Amino acid sequence: MRILSGIQPSGTLHLGNYFGAIQQHIELQAEAGGRDRAFYFIANLHTLTSLRDADKLRALTRDVALDYLALGLEPERATFFRQSDVPEVTELAWYLSCVTGKGLLERAVSYKDKIAKGLEPTMGLFNYPVLMAADILIYRSTMVPVGKDQQQHVEMAQDMATHFNVAFGKEVLTRPDWRFSKAPIVPGLDGAKMSKSYGNTIPIFLPEGMTEKQAWKTYFASIVTDSKGVDDPKDPNDTLMLLYRLLDPSGAAELEPAYVKGGIGYGDVKKRIHAAYSAKFAQFRDKRAALAKDDAYVEGVLEEGGKRARAVAHELMREVRETVGIAAGAWAR
Ligand code: ADP
Ligand code: TRP
Repeated sequence: MRILSGIQPSGTLHLGNYFGAIQQHIELQAEAGGRDRAFYFIANLHTLTSLRDADKLRALTRDVALDYLALGLEPERATFFRQSDVPEVTELAWYLSCVTGKGLLERAVSYKDKIAKGLEPTMGLFNYPVLMAADILIYRSTMVPVGKDQQQHVEMAQDMATHFNVAFGKEVLTRPDWRFSKAPIVPGLDGAKMSKSYGNTIPIFLPEGMTEKQAWKTYFASIVTDSKGVDDPKDPNDTLMLLYRLLDPSGAAELEPAYVKGGIGYGDVKKRIHAAYSAKFAQFRDKRAALAKDDAYVEGVLEEGGKRARAVAHELMREVRETVGIAAGAWAR
């Protein structure tokens, strides 16, 4: 078994990322049973499809590393690395693209969404799922924990593995399975899916210098609700309750009967959500601040992870090159 997942450093990580992906990644470290079986990486090559600012990419990559390490990723229990530290993924992506029909990529929902949102339709964006398939297949990953929006991409990786194996008549690549977290779609401040690109996020860590009071105004007080009054019966699955349940399941279960019956106002629940958020994430803030002062440690973790991941990739790439008929020179050893 190998668990693998990637996260793009394309913006500040938010509660959607946490409950949809990160929390599960951290929990799975234990289930995986060793750092050779849990691989997590920062997908900085993918972020080039949406970001053209070298300093910003470097800063966001560091932020993701700090966030993961502060939230509980343990380098002794998981291999943590930068996607770009295993450059062979781009080579495998080429081999995969040569057995993948254009029609498969044209069906990608995420590509269409991103174009609709105004991203430039570059070849990088179009080929995004091919690079993601290479990320998965190069480590013979068997399980890919992701949020619902990534399901289609993992299914494409399954298809590409099969296409490759059929095209070359050999079982070289392993078909991966996807796995959802308990919260495949976390709602944002406006009730739509929480996403960096919708500007409706609550960050896991407050921006530097932001006070709790400012956080209340910026995030929690601005969660959109309808106009029901305190005494009106309310929907136990509205945005407020969905967020509250994620942050404090027992508090939400206790509140639910009264919420449904009437007598609890939206403002009250927003305050509870804010309190639950602070209780849950404040504990990680100090660790993050300490890590932020120790760049050498963080860089060391990523470099060591990159070496380990690359060694695994090398094995598969030897077999892949042999299978397609590409002679590898000394550079491949
Ligand atoms: P964003 O939509 O903010 O750009 P990404 O696409 O970078 O987020 O997602 C990183 C990971 O977090 C993926 O596994 C994705 O499925 C998960 N994720 C992101 N937003 C949500 C959400 N609102 N609910 C559940 N999972 C999410
Ligand atoms: N596309 C994923 C996202 O935006 C990130 C990613 C890149 C990934 N490669 C991956 C996730 C491989 C899982 C496996 O969230």
